[in-house]
Amino acid sequence: MKPARAVAAWLEDRTGWSGPLRTLLRYPVPIHAHRNPMFSLGSLAIALFLIIGVTGMLMAFYYEPSPEGAYQSTDYIQFELPAGSLIRGIHYWGASFMVVVVVLHMLRVYLYTAYKRPRELTWMMGVVMLLIVVSFGFSGYLLPWDQKAYWATKIGTNMAGTMPIIGDWSMRFMRGGAEMGQATLTRFFAFHVFLLPGALIVFIAAHIALMRRNGLAPPLREAPESGPGSKKTVPFYPDQVLHEAVLILGVVIALVVMATIFPAPLEVAADPTDTSYVPRPAWYLMFYFKLLAYVPGRLESVATVLIPVIFFGTLALLPFFDTSEERRPWKKPWTSFAVMGCGTAVIALTILGYAQD
Ligand code: HEM
Repeated sequence: MKPARAVAAWLEDRTGWSGPLRTLLRYPVPIHAHRNPMFSLGSLAIALFLIIGVTGMLMAFYYEPSPEGAYQSTDYIQFELPAGSLIRGIHYWGASFMVVVVVLHMLRVYLYTAYKRPRELTWMMGVVMLLIVVSFGFSGYLLPWDQKAYWATKIGTNMAGTMPIIGDWSMRFMRGGAEMGQATLTRFFAFHVFLLPGALIVFIAAHIALMRRNGLAPPLREAPESGPGSKKTVPFYPDQVLHEAVLILGVVIALVVMATIFPAPLEVAADPTDTSYVPRPAWYLMFYFKLLAYVPGRLESVATVLIPVIFFGTLALLPFFDTSEERRPWKKPWTSFAVMGCGTAVIALTILGYAQD
């Protein structure tokens, strides 16, 4: 027996590892989802989470979460550490790719009306995961402790402070006190590297378990409850695994190219006395900042909390609002109109935000 096989047999005898692995890989993929990139977006999101996690762990060997050390250690990673710029760049672009992939995945799920019974919980977990992904971006933005990081977080936490009733408490909770400093960085670091990854791992596991239990939504002409849809299936391994591996490889190449051509930015070190600095949010939050700019000052406190609560609340409860039997988006003008309206507004506000920057 070859040494590798002997080790595998030894381990099998003691752990029975091949059973769970077979369960994981034997999943029958319905033919309408097989080799369809739209159905690989969830797997791409998992792959991106792993890539971001690995590059983050590598940076954690050098990063120092203190106002004195954060900027210097990031500067060291970016400009002196061998391959540091590449690792930081992959982490940085990976975060943007993740937002795009998760939103596209959500649109695919919407397009297939896959949020209806019995997949309501899978959808609602997805909304929480979308919030976790955005929180990753918000907490990571502060870590380099450069001007952009400091002032964008100052504005972000100030905005939280304007909320009625819980505003002051949530701002102090985020900052670890009234002002930004060591406690803020410690908290953002703890969220970014412990709490949010832990939460996302738990949610991904539950999301996949539910997806496998209920099967993928069938083609649009069938009722959502009709299980995995088409009776024809293809084994997840090796067909679908190979297809997804090729897509993931393409994304890795794109990340390396982006990180090489457009390195992750690093401005000068944070200067809390420089009040002339005009901060910019991450591109995927620009629409929200722009939207708030149109809200009259006296309504701002309501808007900061009301707009996200209404938006994410409606999104999470969509399966309960959309009760019709119809699954084809072109036959559901109201929901389709709402989604297209939101999409157009987000794009327009983002463009306006950058144009008037
Ligand atoms: C970190 C974020 C996410 C990850 C890693 C993830 C992962 C996955 C994976 C691997 C699948 C299997 C099918 C596919 O890939 O299309 C899936 C299905 C699904 N996801 Fe996600 N997802 C995420 C976010 C979301 C979001 C934001 C939503 C919606 C708000 C959502 C709702 C669903 C639903 C309803 C299904 C079942 C689809 C069907 O039956 O056709 N997911 N997810």
